[in-house]
Amino acid sequence: MFESLKPVVADPILGLMAAFREDPRETKIDLGVGVYMNDRGQTPVMDSVKRAEAKLAELEKTKSYQGIAGDAEYNSRMLQLMFGQDHAVLASGRAKSLQAPGGSGALRVGAEVIRRARPEAKLWVGTPTWPNHIPLLGSAGFEIAEYPYYDTATREVNIDLMLETLRRVPAGDVVLLHGCCHNPTGADLSNEQWDQITEIALERGFVPFIDTAYQGLGDGLDEDAYGMRLMAEKLPELVVASSCSKNFGLYRERTGSITFITQTPEQAAIVGGQAMAVARQMYSMPPAHGALLVSLILGDEALCKDWKAELEEVRLRIKAMRTLLADSIQDNAAGLDFSHIKRQNGMFSFLGIAPEHLTRLREEFGIYIVSSTRINLAGINSSNIAYLAESIRTVLK
Ligand SMILES: Cc1ncc(COP(=O)(O)O)c(C=O)c1O
Repeated sequence: MFESLKPVVADPILGLMAAFREDPRETKIDLGVGVYMNDRGQTPVMDSVKRAEAKLAELEKTKSYQGIAGDAEYNSRMLQLMFGQDHAVLASGRAKSLQAPGGSGALRVGAEVIRRARPEAKLWVGTPTWPNHIPLLGSAGFEIAEYPYYDTATREVNIDLMLETLRRVPAGDVVLLHGCCHNPTGADLSNEQWDQITEIALERGFVPFIDTAYQGLGDGLDEDAYGMRLMAEKLPELVVASSCSKNFGLYRERTGSITFITQTPEQAAIVGGQAMAVARQMYSMPPAHGALLVSLILGDEALCKDWKAELEEVRLRIKAMRTLLADSIQDNAAGLDFSHIKRQNGMFSFLGIAPEHLTRLREEFGIYIVSSTRINLAGINSSNIAYLAESIRTVLK
């Protein structure tokens, strides 16, 4: 049977990462990888997570199966983290949240439930978007349409064209939006732009599907939630996929959640049941460990305070690297403007240099950047910034 299969075309990012690993140069820099790294180039376990793990080791009484919707306390604490404790939608009974295997699992469960509810709905994604959105959501069966998102000339959100396109989205279609820290561009919607999109969603009757994988890494936990909190308040229906991979550093523990906001509490209960049926068909139930840690952290005042302080350190480090890089390469022979890097949010931005510059950076200087020129700002640290900036300035001569 397997003789019919052809090798999968290798993901170019994986090829780049393999080349990075094999590169013997001590000065090499990896700006392609999609995880947070501290100033020593490590992706550490957060202290608050370590302490929660010690607590869990003591408290955990069983490894028996958990329910399909995951841990009830995790689900309710995640709702509070996303929407804020006093958000009216939480008391309304219209929000139903289920634990899911990472943000990716959450996106897929959300997609499957939407397909069950409205198989004819098209899914609108911004260009560009996180490349994995297309296979992850498309393979749920969606027809995918695009709206313009990023303007490579101004290096800002192409808001006029985006709004113009959204004004033509038919009622009942689904529009994917990034909650904050847009991957790959780093260009986020302003609060005013969220207001405008919410108005259009109300007028047109499309349903936003928000992917929020970086809450707390942009402008702060509450600030980064502006869009989803607003839409949860104003719109009759909303779907939100969230991930604890980045803000809790729980990547491999596969911790996320999918939230449906429906018109009535009765509908929320039905949608929750449908989501459980979807999960049952795909993976039965989500992994427990990461969610129990998140629940312990969010439910314990001291642990939560420490986690927030650690997350703030992460956020501020990324911001500092943005400023440092932009300022160090602004003065370049090609006259390129890199000030967008300072204005943008989260781990990623496009460097916006030519393919031949990327090749030279890799071959001559051991600096690895994916072909879209997306760089991970967290790959920069106090030991490599001077070399990185000098190398970029050299190839731009
Ligand atoms: C925009 C976006 N959505 C979702 C995810 C998925 O996160 P997870 O690792 O929790 O599946 C990522 C991860 O990089 C992402 O960048």
